Amino acid sequence: MSGVNEKKVAALEAVKYVKSGMKVGLGTGSTAFYMIEAIGEQVKNGLKIKAVATSVETEKLAKKLGIEIITLAEAKRLDITIDGADEVNEDFQLIKGGGGALLREKIVAHNTDLNIIIADSSKSVSRLGKFKLPIETIPFATQLIIEELKTMKLSPVQRLRGDQAYKTDENNDIVDIDIWNCEDALQVLEERLKSIPGIVETGLFLNTTNVVILGQGEKAVSRKR
Ligand code: 5RP
Repeated sequence: MSGVNEKKVAALEAVKYVKSGMKVGLGTGSTAFYMIEAIGEQVKNGLKIKAVATSVETEKLAKKLGIEIITLAEAKRLDITIDGADEVNEDFQLIKGGGGALLREKIVAHNTDLNIIIADSSKSVSRLGKFKLPIETIPFATQLIIEELKTMKLSPVQRLRGDQAYKTDENNDIVDIDIWNCEDALQVLEERLKSIPGIVETGLFLNTTNVVILGQGEKAVSRKR
């Protein structure tokens, strides 16, 4: 079965966790799309939830499908968030941000009781880092951060859209770095990156995930922490 269908299989399994009365975080990306679509369908059939979107794109889609969107401040705390990932390892650690929404995604995950990650089987890895790690940077500092990351041998590349700098929903830049040959433990790397002024957030999600649901062929395979 193709990756696209595995995404849907995982998404539909995750939606089973969503119950009326919940406050739900909605992730971003092509896998999250299937989850939002399925929740939209259930809302039409009477499911009552309030949702917080992790991106402008997700907010637009959710509203179009009739899902009530509230701010994170209104929600205060979310019961459940369902989001995708670019890579997931055995220890429930992730690389996220391929779609550029990592900052809001990490904030939402931090403020959620149960974080469920959905993905097709290609996202499951024994070691993180084949996917380039996205870093969100303040435009004022981006070029100097790129120089600093070069000295750390992380091969930084500023993300572009066409020939312009890619901009996040917060109007920041994204720099993608190569952590494959980095010898630091992931937690140490995260701390080193976050200690550089102007790096707002990284796509390393190390301690937030509770459940991983992978589409594997026609089956959804769940792992719980
Ligand atoms: C967006 C993300 C996405 O969850 C991640 O890129 C996976 O996307 P997709 O489901 O399209 O493969 O982190 O910032």
